[in-house]
Amino acid sequence: MSLPEPRDSSGPYRICVVCLGNICRSPMAEKILITDLARAGLADRVEVDSAGTGDWHIGADMDPRAASTLRKYGYPTGHVARQFSPSWFAERDLVLAMDTDNLDDLVRLAPDAESRERIRLFRSFAPGAGPNPEVPDPYYGGDDGFVAVLTMIEAASKGLTGELAPLFGP
Ligand code: 4NP
Repeated sequence: MSLPEPRDSSGPYRICVVCLGNICRSPMAEKILITDLARAGLADRVEVDSAGTGDWHIGADMDPRAASTLRKYGYPTGHVARQFSPSWFAERDLVLAMDTDNLDDLVRLAPDAESRERIRLFRSFAPGAGPNPEVPDPYYGGDDGFVAVLTMIEAASKGLTGELAPLFGP
């Protein structure tokens, strides 16, 4: 499925990454995608933020296991958790769900068909991710789950950055 067209071609392309709590997967994806985009020279062309569908962790830091995993691999970790608001659809070109529960919740929240068409699974941009390209919830598991999540996110971020680059010309 191709990338949605920008809503406003005069501004940056705007992406929101969404998971359940906005303390593990989506903040990790936000940091890693921003890093990849900067490496590709697209820091000013693409804006990335993140949110959770749930409200339990609003205002919280990243989960310490997510932060220590990011730090170990050289990524930044500053974060304040937020809940996704349906009004944000109007201000985003692409809304990326980490798993199918997040995707179903976002489809329910979307105010119109145009917003629904802007929702994708984040990991669908990873080459070879298979038929159900989710990033599984690491919250109730061990530290190794966070490394697995980081590896999946790195592959998907690279794929997505590669698809975004042609939007901005050669
Ligand atoms: P995330 O992980 O959706 O990747 O941020 C979770 C964080 C918190 C909870 C579940 C998943 N929780 O149930 O509080």
